[in-house]
This record gives sequence, C-alpha cells and structure tokens, in this order.
Amino acid sequence: MEEELRIRKIRDGTVIDHITAGYALSVLRILGITGREGFVVSIAMNVPSKKLGKKDIVKVEGRELKAEEVNKIALIAPRATINIIKDYAVVKKIRVNLPEEIEDIVKCRNPTCITNSPREPIKPKFKVISREPVKLRCMYCNTTIEIGDIIKQLT
Ligand code: CTP
Ligand code: ZN
Repeated sequence: MEEELRIRKIRDGTVIDHITAGYALSVLRILGITGREGFVVSIAMNVPSKKLGKKDIVKVEGRELKAEEVNKIALIAPRATINIIKDYAVVKKIRVNLPEEIEDIVKCRNPTCITNSPREPIKPKFKVISREPVKLRCMYCNTTIEIGDIIKQLT
C-alpha cells in the first residue's frame, strides 16, 4: 500500500520488484534503458519492504524483458521478481534465480587466466561464493570477482 502511494500501478509493461536496495540504476543500465527511448520509466529506491528491509523497484511501461536480460539481473539482484503486466494484471511472474555456477556472462578479471587466452576456446566459468552482494570465484584461476567488477562489465 505504502508502495502504491509512491509509484502507481501500470497498464502494460514490466515491473522489476525486490531489487537489492541501491541497484535500480544498475538494473536499468544492464537493460540498456537510458530514458531516451521514450518509454515511461518509474524508479523507486530504498522503499521499505517486509521481506528485504529495503528494496528498489523499476517499472518500464510498454516493454517486455528477454530471458538473457533476466539472467543478468540475477547477478546483481538475486532476489528480484520480474512481473509482466497486461491490462493492469500480472500475467507472468519470473523469480530470478542465480545458479550455483555462472558460465559465459562474466569474464575473469585476471588477464593471464586461460579463459582470456585468445588461443584457448575456454569459456569463463565461476562458482557463486556469495549471493548478496554477489561474489564469484573463477573455476580456472581462483580469482574472485565482486559486484563492482560485474557492474563494470555488464553496463
Ligand atoms: N504492479 C504494477 N502494476 C500492475 C500490477 C502490479 O505496478 N498493474 C506491481 C506491484 O505494485 C508490485 C509488482 O507489480 O510491485 C507485483 O505485483 P503483485 O504480484 O500483485 O504483488 P505481490 O503479490 O506483492 O508480489 P510478490 O509476491 O512478488 O511480492
Ligand atoms: Zn580466471
């Protein structure tokens, strides 16, 4: 209810809810939304939430998200829910899911890692060692990748 006084319901589009507090703008950057596309975009940050204490919410009117975009969001907001809205109703709810291993989305920041060798066709692969904020460990060289590195790479 308190939430609805801040940003009202939308007719059609996508609501990304339960974003880790403070990461709404990173979510928009990952989606490549600058605000200059013409969609109506509403952002609420640090809204009180029963489940999370605080959360961010992004509402994009007139645009549906693709699966690969959803997976990227999981890396920075592992508890996010993506709601597809049609004619005011939630017609689809996707709870993002951060798998235990991440392949291909992020690169290792160690330049000598075998996954960065142009001669070796080895895809980067990481183990998730912390979820919120996310921390990954390269399965080839053990280098750890933190949220800041991930945001830099994805945006
Ligand atoms: N929402 C919206 N416009 C609509 C319908 C829903 O902006 N026409 C927003 C709600 O404000 C909420 C999110 O979409 O932030 C999910 O809506 P709903 O599933 O109705 O809320 P909850 O049951 O609280 O969701 P959850 O179980 O995911 O917490
Ligand atoms: Zn590595």
